[in-house]
Amino acid sequence: MTAQNIIEIRGLWTQFGDFVVHRGIDLDVRYGEILSLVGGSGSGKTTMLRQMLGLERPARGEVRVFGTSLHGSDATALRHLRNRWGVLFQEGALFSALSVYDNIALPLRELRAVGEDMIRDLVMVKLEMVGIEPRHATKMPAELSGGMIKRIALARALALEPELIFLDEPTAGLDPDRSESFVTLIRELHRELNLTVVMVTHDLDTLVALSDRVAVLCDQRVEIIGTLDEVVANPHPFIRNFFMGERGRRALEAVKAVRDIMSMT
Ligand SMILES: Nc1ncnc2c1ncn2[C@@H]1O[C@H](COP(=O)(O)OP(=O)(O)OP(=O)(O)O)[C@@H](O)[C@H]1O
Ligand SMILES: [Mg+2]
Repeated sequence: MTAQNIIEIRGLWTQFGDFVVHRGIDLDVRYGEILSLVGGSGSGKTTMLRQMLGLERPARGEVRVFGTSLHGSDATALRHLRNRWGVLFQEGALFSALSVYDNIALPLRELRAVGEDMIRDLVMVKLEMVGIEPRHATKMPAELSGGMIKRIALARALALEPELIFLDEPTAGLDPDRSESFVTLIRELHRELNLTVVMVTHDLDTLVALSDRVAVLCDQRVEIIGTLDEVVANPHPFIRNFFMGERGRRALEAVKAVRDIMSMT
């Protein structure tokens, strides 16, 4: 484990029956970066994310987070590790039977280390952080828009002040405006909280707007990991298709335009 890596994956091999998903993958996530994981449907992105969370065990290989091997750790060690990261799941982002307040309070209550007064303050701070007004705290998830649910789920992921967060398709299902403002929120929080972010996304605008580096999963391995410019230059057919379709070209042109403006000012 080198000091600059928050996650290190070595020789990751995942197999369901005869079907091989990951064929000996090595991957590092550096402290402080936003790393995006992309790949075709079924390429093993969600599975790899679950392996980084210690929810799934690979057939072979090692996943180390904060210098600790997840699959060699006992339940207590794993629980401690889990308190050091936050996760925004794609589906079921909030518990539907709990209010907004109770959803965010849940990880704090599970810690059994803070009193209700303190929890109240922390919940309110987190709501403000994600741009949700305090009056929504008593609402139930069914009363909220998709964009609000994502924000509140993010507040819950941040409840324990993690250094690392995992986002699975953070902007899926949001309309373009809500998606853009959620991307802006992630970017601001990443900067203000010194977060490391590992994100799975299909959405090119999100990918382009947020990623420091991109890792592309295809043919059971990481075809390339690098900056967007490095990845886009890769000739693999999947990558060409992914970035050079109509939407991909537009997203990349938008980035180039912003960079040009930035370099002029
Ligand atoms: N528990 C399991 N048992 C059998 N096969 C599985 C299991 N989990 C995943 N798979 C298979 O492994 C492959 C990778 O699945 P995974 O969900 O990681 O893909 P993905 O890259 O997230 O795809 P998508 O973009 O569609 O979400 C798929 O072919 C899937 O069917
Ligand atoms: Mg998936």
